[in-house]
Amino acid sequence: MAHTIAFAFNKGGVGKTTSAVSLAVSLQRMGYKILFIDMDPQANSTMNFGFSNKGNLKHVGRMMLGEFPIQDIILQSRGIDILPASDEMFDKQREIGSKHLSHTFLNDYLDAIRDQYDFVILDCPPSLEALTVNALVAADQVICPLILESFDMKGIEKMIQTLLDIRKKVNPNLNFMGFIVCKSSAIMQTKLGKLNLEDLEATFPDKVLRPLIRTAVTVPESQNEGMTIFEWAAESKPALDYDQLAKNILQILNVTSHEQSLQTNTHA
Ligand SMILES: Nc1ncnc2c1ncn2[C@@H]1O[C@H](COP(=O)(O)OP(=O)(O)OP(=O)(O)O)[C@@H](O)[C@H]1O
Ligand SMILES: [Mg+2]
Repeated sequence: MAHTIAFAFNKGGVGKTTSAVSLAVSLQRMGYKILFIDMDPQANSTMNFGFSNKGNLKHVGRMMLGEFPIQDIILQSRGIDILPASDEMFDKQREIGSKHLSHTFLNDYLDAIRDQYDFVILDCPPSLEALTVNALVAADQVICPLILESFDMKGIEKMIQTLLDIRKKVNPNLNFMGFIVCKSSAIMQTKLGKLNLEDLEATFPDKVLRPLIRTAVTVPESQNEGMTIFEWAAESKPALDYDQLAKNILQILNVTSHEQSLQTNTHA
């Protein structure tokens, strides 16, 4: 059964897409079979994987409205299967949200193919509306990327409250894995950054995932070139950090090296 991990936070520009794409690619390079689902109408991860976010693309929003079978919209890039997003999903989100029991749409369709993967990775938009709710209903793990600069207990409280609500009402299997601190380099040199990290760790013990992801221009550069960080600058600090984080996540999920070698053989 695939581990289904949603990258979600109700703030923009904190590193959700960068973390979801980088960890998906890192896990794929270790031999795991990955399905990546872009739930964000901005379609940044779809573009980062080399596809357009416009036109008559068969995207996950239309799939959720029953327009296409899930198998028909899968694209491939870097050895990863991708359910793409499109800017048309800004409108589709309203339509989806207005339908009865729409919060389970993604999960219902995903169940048809979930078993074919080791990991399903979901990149969410910076809101807690229908598309994010669908991702959280389909997920068994949530990771919240954030930056210490914009540390905002109110935002975090709202996110955690949403997770608790979804766990209580719809998806009892939902587990909060933790926070990824993104773009950490400059802020960790400041008193504010250190205080915010201490505060976060005191409030959520053992929930700040390691390592923190260091800042480097190689991240926006690689995205600008339509490449992953591992293709653009494999030895850069964020690439090394995401690789180590991927290994730590495998440990947290108790994915053993035995299981890993089995998966590699299975998918070779
Ligand atoms: N480690 C890093 N070093 C330097 N820049 C980074 C790093 N991580 C992310 N960025 C940059 O920060 C910006 C926001 O990152 P990203 O798009 O991943 O955030 P997001 O949370 O997905 O945003 P949105 O909420 O708009 O979807 C991007 O320009 C990205 O290139
Ligand atoms: Mg994003």
